[in-house]
Amino acid sequence: MALNSRKVAMVGCGFVGSASAFALMQSKLFSEMVLIDADQNRAEGEALDISHGMAFASPMKIYAGTYDDVSDAAIIVITAGANQKPEETRLDLIQKNAKIMRSIIGEIKKRDFEGILLIVSNPVDILTYIALKESGYPANRVIGSGTVLDTGRFRYELGEHLGVDSRSVHAYIIGEHGDSELAAWSDARVGGLKISDFCELRGHFNHEDSMTRIFDHVKNSAYEIISKKHATYYGIAMAVVRICSAIVRDEKSIMPVSSLMTGEYGLYDVVLSIPAVVDANGIETVVPIELSETELLALKKSADILKDILKDNV
Ligand code: 2OP
Repeated sequence: MALNSRKVAMVGCGFVGSASAFALMQSKLFSEMVLIDADQNRAEGEALDISHGMAFASPMKIYAGTYDDVSDAAIIVITAGANQKPEETRLDLIQKNAKIMRSIIGEIKKRDFEGILLIVSNPVDILTYIALKESGYPANRVIGSGTVLDTGRFRYELGEHLGVDSRSVHAYIIGEHGDSELAAWSDARVGGLKISDFCELRGHFNHEDSMTRIFDHVKNSAYEIISKKHATYYGIAMAVVRICSAIVRDEKSIMPVSSLMTGEYGLYDVVLSIPAVVDANGIETVVPIELSETELLALKKSADILKDILKDNV
């Protein structure tokens, strides 16, 4: 079936799926969106509720459907699965969510789908690896939302600390989307200046303390939000829109999506986040930014943690 570049499918209509669908409707990127959930009523309810906002955005077709409706989609966003409860890590979800991911990919594979798979469910790096292997699709077509959200959180925190628009902050969180992630400080720039130089411009000289505080806050954001409101969904919904926009509009934007490593930093056969150019074909190329020795070690440790889990689960 010919691919409809203006069609998106959302698999999973929990908090993350429905918030992402709502944000996608407002983004005007698509003219058709199909919502799929194990609970058909939930998908129908969300489709109706979101459709009622259309008169205030722009026209499109939104409906609850089945896997038969995904064949011609340009992007399938997968958010289905259990989410973290207070005290749980993302990696604790592996058993439940690997099974769900395998069954979803099994359904998609039965159809003639030629678009991009965007995996959002956690643990996102592991589930993206599973989706890649189970689907047999080329690696450029299987993307995880990875640390795009963490990087958004990082830029927000730095923007607040430095009194500057977060869009003028270029700094990445890389590695696992989870507890072993790291901040690529050595590459961080604000308006072209090295981050420490910009800090000094703003009268901040206590770099080590600020770096530790800001990174810990970013890394633990999800725990903080989950302890307060039981789930995170608005931030990730905006990250989903940002990634979809790069694909639909063939933007060649650089963002730290989760992708298969094929020798970058000496890493093979593991999926994690480093910056990548994202365009209509998904991952055009990864951009292995320069890392300090400490950062490189932390990235390798993050990859080892993910590889150990893959060994036991895939
Ligand atoms: C988040 O970082 C829980 O992965 C989700 O908000």
